[in-house]
Amino acid sequence: MTTSPLAELSTHVADLIARIEQALTLADLLVDEPFIVGKRSILSTLQKSLGALAPEERKDAGARLQDARRGIEEAFAVRRALLEEEARAEQLEADRLDLGDVVISQVLAPLSVGHPGIVAATQRQLEDVFVAMGFNVSDGPEVESDWYNFEALNIPPAHPARGMWDTFYVDLGEPETVVLRTHTSPTQIHLMEQAVAQDALPIHSVMPGRCYRRDTPDARHLATFHQIEGLVVDRGISFADLAGVIETFTHAYFGADISSRLRPAFFPFTEPSAEFEITCTICRGDGCRTCSQTGWIELGGCGMLDPAVFEAVGIDGDEWSGFAFGFGIDRCAQMRHQIADMRALIDNDVRFLRQFS
Ligand code: PHE
Repeated sequence: MTTSPLAELSTHVADLIARIEQALTLADLLVDEPFIVGKRSILSTLQKSLGALAPEERKDAGARLQDARRGIEEAFAVRRALLEEEARAEQLEADRLDLGDVVISQVLAPLSVGHPGIVAATQRQLEDVFVAMGFNVSDGPEVESDWYNFEALNIPPAHPARGMWDTFYVDLGEPETVVLRTHTSPTQIHLMEQAVAQDALPIHSVMPGRCYRRDTPDARHLATFHQIEGLVVDRGISFADLAGVIETFTHAYFGADISSRLRPAFFPFTEPSAEFEITCTICRGDGCRTCSQTGWIELGGCGMLDPAVFEAVGIDGDEWSGFAFGFGIDRCAQMRHQIADMRALIDNDVRFLRQFS
């Protein structure tokens, strides 16, 4: 009597079940799949051998083998589902974004504490120098009526001197024309008006702030820039006081080897007027391209207050006299830090900005 091909079936089934259970990962199980439930499985080999059986035996054996296969397939599917679930959980764990980690390692660590920009820092230093010299600090509006920006400063409508300032007009309307201030000088007018109203003369003030001109930016000009205005109204003030203040400031801010000089100029609101220049900080006075070989760099304008300005604000020019000056804060920063192109101040390139922390 021939032994049935299925004599060992239960052993084979137990082996296959063990093999399924031994697969610890989905990858292991899938590698084994052909040997467990696929064409290379012992079950497939047995299936083929059934052909040798007599027909009545074959039917019975076929049914047993079919049962066994179903059992194995089910065990395989259960194991597969379990391992898939484990693999998914593992993947999720690996992909999990720990926001705490991200914040600390990638966001906070490279984030350094900010610092005032170079123009703001320069403005504070300038204020400090003038405060030490006995001035106080005021400010005024950036949007001004035509009267403050021009007329009260002895620049009537259509006066040719208006060409000195390329103006952004906010409103050309009636009754008032409104402009973005082209200089900090209108703040002088506000200050003098207040002092008159409050009977609070004398005045010793500096007024820093942002100004606007319809200029095309270049290496030494910006359309939005900063000035610091100085105003002294007191009894017996002379041009020598003005020159002394400018020279004292120049040494205090730029250093002992940098001096100032005044050159005749014209401004409608001062008489006499001067441009003030300092020793070129790039060549220290020897002459270079930045100062056009002169050894001097223009910083701003100044002069004795014009009687027409006193009249506009109602100050008695017989009792009081005074001087004013105004110069560029951005230009000071440029000269002090020897910045070749002023546009670097507004580019916001952090590699540039970090140098001034
Ligand atoms: N406001 C003048 C300017 O911007 C500078 C200046 C100020 C001149 C004060 C004289 C007195 O050009």
